[in-house]
Amino acid sequence: MPTYLVDLSAEVMRRRLNEALTVYVNAMHYPRGTEDQRASMWLEHTRRAGWKAVAALSTPEPVPAGLVPDGPAVEAADPQASAALDTAELLGVAYGYSGAPDQWWQQQVVHGLRRTGAHPDQADALLGDYFELTELHIHPRAQGQGLGEALARRLLSGRPEARVLLSTPEINGEANRAWRLYRRLGFGDVIRDYHFAGDPRAFAILGRSLPLD
Ligand SMILES: CC(C)(COP(=O)(O)OP(=O)(O)OC[C@H]1O[C@@H](n2cnc3c(N)ncnc32)[C@H](O)[C@@H]1OP(=O)(O)O)[C@@H](O)C(=O)NCCC(=O)NCCS
Repeated sequence: MPTYLVDLSAEVMRRRLNEALTVYVNAMHYPRGTEDQRASMWLEHTRRAGWKAVAALSTPEPVPAGLVPDGPAVEAADPQASAALDTAELLGVAYGYSGAPDQWWQQQVVHGLRRTGAHPDQADALLGDYFELTELHIHPRAQGQGLGEALARRLLSGRPEARVLLSTPEINGEANRAWRLYRRLGFGDVIRDYHFAGDPRAFAILGRSLPLD
């Protein structure tokens, strides 16, 4: 089945939120019901400055050549392509937004940097101008074919920020697809073994400069 990578407008993301959350819960092997806990946060994120989302969509039949948007959001595409993609299956989703001091995630990273003994100037330099890659998930059925890398590249292309930061669960030996992908894309360590407030798991904060090569 042909697969298309598209930008999602906030309106389309809101409309297809359940599908996006289903991909997320399946990819992360979270228990059923996690979708409901996260829905309001994902919705709130669509309203943040610099929010951008991308998706991998699979259609039973090829969409006629030239109709799939290579940049603009799905809703801005030709109506024929838009209709075809509207009913297409969502295989993967990724989004992020511009980091800002009033965001919980940034406050957590500041806290983590302090604990590593970083000078406040270092934190200011790191967090002054970045894109937070908040979510990146491919349905297990579609993993291992390069879709995650393609979505990450599309999400990060054309970003105005100086760098990109993300957090990902620590895994022994960095032995999973997420770690391999981030290392392949040139992400380096910012903080290791960090515990976000209220989460027992250890996370790594990774980052790199933009644009990607
Ligand atoms: C992490 C994740 C987004 C990566 O997406 P993905 O599509 O599975 O992975 P990639 O795009 O990196 O695919 C590359 C893999 O496919 C293989 N591949 C096959 N054909 C390929 C192609 N044409 N192009 C690139 N890679 C290809 C590569 O060998 C590579 O294998 P490897 O992961 O064993 O090194 C996805 O696996 C996922 O959703 N995982 C669970 C959720 C998660 O961990 N999310 C991130 C949390 S922070």
